[in-house]
Amino acid sequence: MKMVAGNWKMNKTLQEGVALATELKEAVKNPNCAVVIGTPFIHLATVAELLKDSPIAVAAENCADKEKGAYTGEVSAAMVRSTGAEYCILGHSERRAYYHEDYAILREKTQLALANGLKVIFCIGEVKEEREAGKQNEVVKAQLEGSVFNLTAEEWKNVVLAYEPVWAIGTGLTATPEQAQEIHAYIRGLVAQRYGQEVADATTILYGGSCNEKNAAELFACPDIDGGLIGGAALVAEKFLAIIAAR
Ligand code: 13P
Repeated sequence: MKMVAGNWKMNKTLQEGVALATELKEAVKNPNCAVVIGTPFIHLATVAELLKDSPIAVAAENCADKEKGAYTGEVSAAMVRSTGAEYCILGHSERRAYYHEDYAILREKTQLALANGLKVIFCIGEVKEEREAGKQNEVVKAQLEGSVFNLTAEEWKNVVLAYEPVWAIGTGLTATPEQAQEIHAYIRGLVAQRYGQEVADATTILYGGSCNEKNAAELFACPDIDGGLIGGAALVAEKFLAIIAAR
């Protein structure tokens, strides 16, 4: 499946988010790919209601690693699903780096998200030093083995992967189409080894990291890049719409 997904991160008040979602809803009627927007938890119910008759699906940017109970401030996968959100972004490098989410925590979160009827956009990717040392393949392999390759083939159907090299996120430094294609093909090969070629061919693998309205078409032309996970450019309707049009 081809897909363009936005990740708003910690941006936009509720009113600003509603204004952006309204603009997108009016413009996206019959997209040639799946379109998803990831919003802060607090916007989910309102934005999901607003988009309920639209082809645009809504994603949370995180969920708790516990089912329910005395975990002050946390938001469970069941709560996310109850807002009408269909997806949950997990494993983002900002969550790994700033909130210490390790392989085991991400394994729990993924299980809970899937068990509660959410689809997961699972992010992987290396930091700059790892790329410079030529270790990017090892890194993404360990991230997949550590958190998602325990899933059954049935569960895997609800997983989308997003390769996001950390050195390209918010830096304006995009991976070249060649760099991105090379590692996307490697990732698809790992999925094929684990779940078989047919499943690997059906797996959606997004690219993220300074993907914008100018470079999207070139990236999306690569055979193993099924779409994008967009940060900064997803905050401006005309840029996000141009990226959707490029897919
Ligand atoms: P930017 O598009 O702002 O680089 O962010 C990418 C990202 O982290 C999406 O999850």
